[in-house]
Amino acid sequence: PVIYVLNGPNLNLLGTREPEIYGADTLDDIAGLLEDRAQELGVEIEMRQSNHEGHLVDWIQEANAEGAKAVLLNAGAYTHTSIAIHDAIKAVAVPVIEVHLSNPHKRDAFRHISYVGQAAKGTVAGFGALSYRLALDAAAGF
Ligand code: DQA
Repeated sequence: PVIYVLNGPNLNLLGTREPEIYGADTLDDIAGLLEDRAQELGVEIEMRQSNHEGHLVDWIQEANAEGAKAVLLNAGAYTHTSIAIHDAIKAVAVPVIEVHLSNPHKRDAFRHISYVGQAAKGTVAGFGALSYRLALDAAAGF
């Protein structure tokens, strides 16, 4: 079984991007951690990142068409703006788990709305790189 791990805008800068908020791990570090965990869980991960909203829509549709077991989605700032991503999640059968490194609810008011969360099966937020691993554990049990 394949689990897609989709990452949105600016997450390619992890490691140097506001490390006091997002931690010191790079996206490659997180990919490595997830690869190790995936092996233990007996699943495969397909990890991607894009700064473009439409790529995330395309990849959600692709994950569904490919029969993926689940999608882990950190949509970055599109979380708080994208009705297109919300609609894509609603349009497919594959379960989507919303993931965030930080806890958006204790940050700026404009981060308190999540269009992803309003369509996702569940959310893991606030635990840094561990948020991804916890979401992977959940997804592997689907
Ligand atoms: C984020 C939280 C978002 O509010 C922010 O725009 C990001 C990262 C997180 O993982 O904590 O880009 O999704």
